[in-house]
Amino acid sequence: MNITKCLFPAAGYGTRFLPVTKAMPKEMLPILTKPLIQYGVEEAVEAGIDTMAIITGRGKRAIEDHFDISYELEHQIKGSSKEHLLDEIRALISKCTFTYTRQIEMKGLGDAILKGKVLIGHEPFAVVLADDLCINENGHGVLAQMIALYKKYKCSIVAIMEVPAEETYKYGVIDGKEIEEGVFMVSNMVEKPEPSEAPSNLAIIGRYILTPEIFEMIKSTKPGKNGEIQITDALMHLAQSGMVLACKFEGKRFDCGSVEGFVEATNYLYNVSYNQEN
Ligand code: G1P
Repeated sequence: MNITKCLFPAAGYGTRFLPVTKAMPKEMLPILTKPLIQYGVEEAVEAGIDTMAIITGRGKRAIEDHFDISYELEHQIKGSSKEHLLDEIRALISKCTFTYTRQIEMKGLGDAILKGKVLIGHEPFAVVLADDLCINENGHGVLAQMIALYKKYKCSIVAIMEVPAEETYKYGVIDGKEIEEGVFMVSNMVEKPEPSEAPSNLAIIGRYILTPEIFEMIKSTKPGKNGEIQITDALMHLAQSGMVLACKFEGKRFDCGSVEGFVEATNYLYNVSYNQEN
């Protein structure tokens, strides 16, 4: 079955960016001239996905407006020298459908994904955490790489990268056996372990391919780290009852949920896009 839907959990408060996120969704923070979430949608479209399922919450209406036509703006800009600035977003909107539902209470990433069931139905799907901006200048994006692997193994997959041992407390961390270069069969998964308890330094980043069984697994998952329902714990149950893979990806990943990563992503993209033009 082809993967045609991508879930974007986007209900979080973005407290690390206060006060800017007081009245503005963190997913709308701009990296150059595009909001963070648009990069995620572009990555999904590049991977052949045409339906974006976005989990929003209170104060997130700007996301819906961004992926819609602004008639007033279209009217103002039509025929002017600025009109081309809308070309990219117009083209993107024309390629996909956007669906939305709200997470009423913040009960963790696992709970946010479960809320997406109504938009996904019973089929495999991708998940993008828009905070993690992934760029592969030399080829396919991370989701496209994961979908290629899904076609081969037909199971849930998480994207991983090596992190310094002292940073494991920021991530879900896996352990497993390498079954082909850069691909691990997961035997253990721990959400945000202290370095002394981490099973490895292979950290999960915000890209997942999930089979629909995950919804039942999440339902039976008890609150874990920080009292939240963790997708890492639900995936661990899935790994125990079936198979979950973890794959290293080609490309760069910026943690745009932190100010430092956000600035790095901005500088990086400025250098590749603007400096090349000059
Ligand atoms: C979430 C996941 C974590 C993963 C991380 C990737 O954590 O719970 O397992 O490693 O995303 O960015 P968050 O960063 O939302 O706290």
